[in-house]
Amino acid sequence: MEMETTYQLLDGKKTSSNIKEELAIEVKKIKEEGGQIPHLAAILVGDDGASETYVNAKVKACELIGFKSSLFRYDASISELELLAKIEELNNDSSLHGFIVQLPLPDHIDEQKVTEAVAPEKDVDGFHPENVGKMALDLPTFVSATPYGIMQLLERYNIETEGKNCVVIGRSHIVGLPMSILMAKKAYPGNCTVTVCHSRTKDIKEFTTKADIIIVALGSSEFLTADMVKEGVTVIDVGITRIKDESKKSGYRLVGDVKFDEVAAKSSYITPVPGGVGPMTIASLLMNTLTAAKRAS
Ligand code: GUN
Repeated sequence: MEMETTYQLLDGKKTSSNIKEELAIEVKKIKEEGGQIPHLAAILVGDDGASETYVNAKVKACELIGFKSSLFRYDASISELELLAKIEELNNDSSLHGFIVQLPLPDHIDEQKVTEAVAPEKDVDGFHPENVGKMALDLPTFVSATPYGIMQLLERYNIETEGKNCVVIGRSHIVGLPMSILMAKKAYPGNCTVTVCHSRTKDIKEFTTKADIIIVALGSSEFLTADMVKEGVTVIDVGITRIKDESKKSGYRLVGDVKFDEVAAKSSYITPVPGGVGPMTIASLLMNTLTAAKRAS
């Protein structure tokens, strides 16, 4: 007997493509009105394969919707001082509205120092402490790309969140921590009762089996299994791990933090990997860049 599939995919590819279409229309309007075309720059240090893929996708997305983009590439040997000098240059470059420094950086460079060097008004990644603080206090800011993308996905699929039990697995500064803050906010999406689980949580299953919404951002492939979730759950999978696979042209396949097939069978909504949260992060970065450009003009 074939298994009945009753879940609905939260299609990040489709949703991000809708957002990009909306942004392209905005760009056209800006052009007609003689306004500033949004300009995003990215700094890429070293030759990490995943970082390269992400940055290239960001640049390509800019081209697609009519934003300007600039890519600054540096060898992994660049000194912290040189990198900080470049950031200062971009902070003062009025021709661009926002820029990102792709993480992770080589070990000899202090990521915190780099993050704090980016001018908050150009920090479209939303990583600067000032912007994280504003996010937490519900003030206008740049919400970082992955959390913003997840919120957009929940909103555009009209997922009910008010009064729901939301479990966030992972407490990273880029995903777990902001997600836990955003899901607890007095807003839609939000108004959840949020539990944050992490490496020191004694029995994660005790929490996940009571959850209406689970956001997994652990970076541990196929961590969430069917026995850990209840029927009808909504699952957001933030993980993307590259697993060696000789049958693929790239030599690898992408695996999420969720054991998809078995968890999907119990879910009402679930994000796929790839094609779920990933594409949404790019759409969010573009939205932040448009906001930065509007603020600057
Ligand atoms: N590394 C992983 N995610 C991100 C992101 O959203 N922005 C940057 N700059 N680096 C990342």
